[in-house]
Amino acid sequence: MQLEHKKIILGICGGIAAYKCPELLRLLKKQGADVHVVMTEAAAQIVSPTTLQTLSGHEVPIDVFDGSSHIDHIALGADADLMLIAPATANTIAKLACGLADNMLTCAALAANCPLVVAPAMNSRMYQHAATQENIATLKRRGVFIIPPADGDLACGESGPGRMREPAEIVAYIMALFSREGLPHFENTMLPKPSEPLEITAQKLLPKANGAGLRVLITAGPTEEPIDPVRVITNRSSGKMGFALAQAARERGAAVTLIAGPVTLPTPVGVSRINVKTAQDMYDAVKAKLDDVDIVIGCAAVSDYRLAYVYDKKLTKEEHGDSMTLTLIKNEDIISMVGHSSPRPFTVGFAAETNEGDKHAREKLQRKNLDLIVLNDVSRSDVGFNSDDNAVTVYDRDGQAAAFDKAPKSVIASELMNFIFEAKRAAAAAKA
Ligand code: C5P
Repeated sequence: MQLEHKKIILGICGGIAAYKCPELLRLLKKQGADVHVVMTEAAAQIVSPTTLQTLSGHEVPIDVFDGSSHIDHIALGADADLMLIAPATANTIAKLACGLADNMLTCAALAANCPLVVAPAMNSRMYQHAATQENIATLKRRGVFIIPPADGDLACGESGPGRMREPAEIVAYIMALFSREGLPHFENTMLPKPSEPLEITAQKLLPKANGAGLRVLITAGPTEEPIDPVRVITNRSSGKMGFALAQAARERGAAVTLIAGPVTLPTPVGVSRINVKTAQDMYDAVKAKLDDVDIVIGCAAVSDYRLAYVYDKKLTKEEHGDSMTLTLIKNEDIISMVGHSSPRPFTVGFAAETNEGDKHAREKLQRKNLDLIVLNDVSRSDVGFNSDDNAVTVYDRDGQAAAFDKAPKSVIASELMNFIFEAKRAAAAAKA
């Protein structure tokens, strides 16, 4: 019973998928949840409030002005652990995005002091309409968890994306949210900007997470070495992997500092970010934090060399003719400095290799004195660099390897963070 002592508000909208809600409710209760239903008037046309009342054991409010109801629309979600809206219609999603509160369900959602999970279900053209997609993006940005609909036959006779996920899948998703051991693969919770609701989510969900109590520092993105005022030497790195790791570590309860090279990615909610440009800036920022962290993950594509001399005026063809020579000098290796520091945090490096990855990764782990190294095969065009997907292999100090098959970077990041936290605890236990 993984949802024991959890108070869950189940908001039901008037989509045909509402007929699945008695089953959804039954499965939530089977896991021990205390489920309180709130529904829209349209939903009450599809599924009987009496059925839901009997199954949940609680009154089912519909009308805010129903004098006979004992339920206060503001109080409903105040002490809940989670509110789930399933099915969520295009209409209710639009209201949620605008902050409208014109019925019991939307009032409860607006006043709820808990994580909100929304499972859209509707005709596929309604789902794919720019308005609905923008509304869903707005909700995601605010920290709402979206369970995307499945592709398939719809009640309207058409086929396409818009089918509400099966009750068992929704319940599995909610259990994963509470356990924070990684969300099911269809979710991408990368958020464009900090927002209060996810911090509420974090407070409610994080205390039991496997990264709680750990301080993690992550370097991400490329660095830029100036040549002159307008030109730089840089690396092909989007920063997506490092940012996804920062988010996954934060979602697992860790205190996360992200030292980011020049990328335009949004900061994951609850993560403290330090922006840097050059490898030297990144080195200094890492060094300054080193005494206050338990784990350092070097995900940045750091420039190995910088200009021996940075020109203060723009270089011109007129001045330099057909060829010119730039002298480069070596930058300090940041993760190697961390690996050789004392006291030393648990140190994880990355290796982007095009050939003999296995051999080079193991050598780097030794040379830089790392605890783990994550190998990216950058010769593959379908993963890595600017791709949203990745596939990696992790090596430990004993030379043991663990493979993480191709998946979205957010999924790889979740699995990697579970692996790293576990390895860190195992290393600490072995020392004790
Ligand atoms: O030696 P190589 O650059 O391939 O090693 C990659 C690993 O080392 C990554 O973890 C990267 O973040 C880190 N690195 C570093 N400082 C450098 C160069 C690489 O921290 N100057």
